[in-house]
Amino acid sequence: MSVKEEQMVWVQAVSYEELAVNTGKTIRYQGVEVALFKLSSGKLHAIQNRCPHKEGVLAEGIVCDDHVFCPLHDRKIHLPSGLVQLPDTGCVQTYSTKVQDGLVFIGFPKTEELAS
Ligand code: FES
Repeated sequence: MSVKEEQMVWVQAVSYEELAVNTGKTIRYQGVEVALFKLSSGKLHAIQNRCPHKEGVLAEGIVCDDHVFCPLHDRKIHLPSGLVQLPDTGCVQTYSTKVQDGLVFIGFPKTEELAS
């Protein structure tokens, strides 16, 4: 489900320049954990930090192109869509990102949506 811009709160995460390429970074906001990635292309992706299989920490996974491999059992997750790739199934939530004044922001659903 996509979240409209007016339904999001933008949370400052980290400096874009200091974010390591192809290395996940865990960002926490109000009990929600997100894995933030900067790909070698410079693109940013933010996804739910826990694998839908057995909650492997995706920020610790290996990045290859625009996928991350779960560090526990190697499921392959497409970063732009959050979809687990075949032969496995499932998906993780994706979050919007933006860069403003050299800082990375992640768009979280407003608190009401988080609570529901
Ligand atoms: S916990 Fe991610 S593949 Fe098993």
